[in-house]
Amino acid sequence: MEKFIKKGQIIVGLDFDNAKSAFEITKLLNPKNYKLKVGSQLFTACGPKILDDLKKEGFDIFLDLKFHDTPNTVEKAVLEACKMSIWMLNIHLSGGLNMIDAAVKAKNSISPEILLIGVTVLTSLDQKDLSDIGVINNLQNHISSLLSLGKKAGIDGIVCSPKDLEHFKKEEMQSLISICPGIRVNEKRGGQKRTSTIHEAIKMGADYIVIAREITASPSPSKVINEIDTFFI
Ligand code: C5P
Repeated sequence: MEKFIKKGQIIVGLDFDNAKSAFEITKLLNPKNYKLKVGSQLFTACGPKILDDLKKEGFDIFLDLKFHDTPNTVEKAVLEACKMSIWMLNIHLSGGLNMIDAAVKAKNSISPEILLIGVTVLTSLDQKDLSDIGVINNLQNHISSLLSLGKKAGIDGIVCSPKDLEHFKKEEMQSLISICPGIRVNEKRGGQKRTSTIHEAIKMGADYIVIAREITASPSPSKVINEIDTFFI
């Protein structure tokens, strides 16, 4: 069995509407191997307490609320988020340079060690979806423009599809970490338009990969986790 995943490289998306379901998954995970992602659904259902409860279990937590608002509002939201038990949080880079700048400054003023990540283009979108919302730029060029904006403002990394990674120039990604969702354990399936397998994503240079439904919607999450566990170096 080929071993290719470093410990801590996999982030499990706890996309649930209640804490009990989330803890049923976390009890199957070793916090040395896995980090957790709390997104809008679980955070809205349970509130900030869920972050403390998960942190107590020893996990690093990515707060995936994808802030996208006026610079002032995002600044205030980032300040509040950074008071919580988190390892990473994110914003939409399409909020523009002033908004990104406000988020970076807010994060650095309170907890510079927390990682602030920018979403480029959601992996659920393709070229047609972009043109439907009036973006006439080519998908890859659009992603690169957003990446440059984020870099200019000093973000720590980006969320992108593993396939986007091969289009970036080395210097573009220098000093930025990559977080790749849209990952399938083995073959490609599911509701996202730009997906890759874990193996492909790591080969393409993803620093972290996000897996949600492959685990959370599986009839046997422990079977999927046991399979992923065999890939750890
Ligand atoms: O279920 P699946 O593995 O496709 O879910 C991926 C997770 O990553 C979801 O929680 C989704 O909200 C998140 N995601 C993200 N950024 C993207 C695409 C998906 O954070 N660009």
